[in-house]
Amino acid sequence: MTDQVPPAYRGPQRVLSGVQPSGALHLGNYLGALVKFARLQHEMDTFIFVADLHAITVWQDPALLANQVREITAAYLAAGLDPDKATIFPQSAVPAHAELGWIFNCVARVGWLDRMTQFKEKSGKHKERASVGLYTYPVLQAADILLYKATHVPVGDDQRQHLELTRDIAAKFNHDFDAPDFFPLPDALTQGPGSRIMSLRDGTAKMSKSDPSDNSRLNLLDDEDAIAQKVRKAKTDPEPLPETLDELKGRPEAENLIGIYAALDNRAAAEVLSEFAGQGFGAFKPKLADLAVARLGPVGAQMHRLMADPGEIDAVLAKGAERARAAAAPTLAEVRAKVGFWGA
Ligand code: TYM
Repeated sequence: MTDQVPPAYRGPQRVLSGVQPSGALHLGNYLGALVKFARLQHEMDTFIFVADLHAITVWQDPALLANQVREITAAYLAAGLDPDKATIFPQSAVPAHAELGWIFNCVARVGWLDRMTQFKEKSGKHKERASVGLYTYPVLQAADILLYKATHVPVGDDQRQHLELTRDIAAKFNHDFDAPDFFPLPDALTQGPGSRIMSLRDGTAKMSKSDPSDNSRLNLLDDEDAIAQKVRKAKTDPEPLPETLDELKGRPEAENLIGIYAALDNRAAAEVLSEFAGQGFGAFKPKLADLAVARLGPVGAQMHRLMADPGEIDAVLAKGAERARAAAAPTLAEVRAKVGFWGA
C-alpha cells in the first residue's frame, strides 16, 4: 500500500467499504471492490456493510429490498470475506450512520456537493425530480466511513471524488470543533488493474448495474454459458493485439479486455499482452471466456448455495450489526459532545 495516512492521526488503521443493494453485482464490483475486501481483512480491522440507506435514494421495491441485502452479503461471503474476521452488516441496522450523516450535512457546503459528477450522471436531465437523498448521498458516505474512523477505503475508481469529499468533511469538522486529529483523512484504495472495468459493449463507458444492456456486463450470478456468450459478443476492433500497452491507447475495447484478463489472472497487463501479441480476438476471446468462467463460476455457485439458506446469512448480518453498533457508539458520543448537544 503506497498511500500514507496523514501524520496527525494516531488512531488504529481500519478498513471500511460497502456496496449498494440496487441491482445485479457484476465483474466491476467484484474486481474493484469485493476481491480487495477479502484481501484486506487479513491486514487490518475490517468493516464491510450493505448500503441499503444509499440504495433508497432511488426507488427500491420494499418487497425485494431485504433479499437484495442478503444477495450482496452472499457475494461478500462467496468472494472470501470471513464473518469472524470482518464485521459484515446492513447499514440501516446502525442508526448512527444517519445521525452522523445529518451532522455532516451541516458541515459540508452546497458548493462541494454541486461539484459531484455522479449526481449529475444519476439525476440526468431532470435533477429537480431526483430525491434530496441522491443529492446529499456523498455526505452519508462520509458518515459511513468516519463513524468507524476508517483510514483505508477500498473502492473502484468511480468513488474517488466521494473520498475526496470525505476528506474535506473530516478536515472541516476537525477544524470547526478544534479537534485536529479527531477524524482521520482516509485514503481511497483505488489502485490495481480491476479498479475501472469498462462495459463489454462500449470501452469508454463504465461497466454498470444500471446499463440497460445485460450484455454490457458479466454478472456474478450469470451461468457459464452466459459468461462465455457475453465474452464472445464483446465489442472489439479488427486489429491484432499489439506488443506494448502504449499501442493499446485509442483502442478502449481491446484495452478493457486485456485489463479484465490481467485482473482475473492476477497478472500485469503488460505480461498478458506479451503472451497474446500478434493474435486476433478470435484466439484471445475463448481464452478470456475460459478464465472468466473459472474465476466467476465458483463465486456464483457459492452465492446460490448461500442464498438457499437465508437463515445463515441473517445470522452473519445480525452478529455484524451488533459489533458495528458497538464500534460506532463511542465516535457518535464524542461527536455529540463536540457539537454541544444537550445531555452529551
Ligand atoms: P456501488 O454499489 O455503485 O459499487 C460498489 C463498488 O464497486 C465498485 N465498482 C467498480 N469497480 C471497478 N469497475 C467498475 N466498473 C465498477 N463499478 C462499481 C465501486 O467503485 C464500489 O467500490 N457509494 C458506493 C457505496 C458506498 C460506500 C460507502 C463505499 C456507500 N457508502 C462508504 C465505500 C465507503 C456505491 O454506490 O458503490
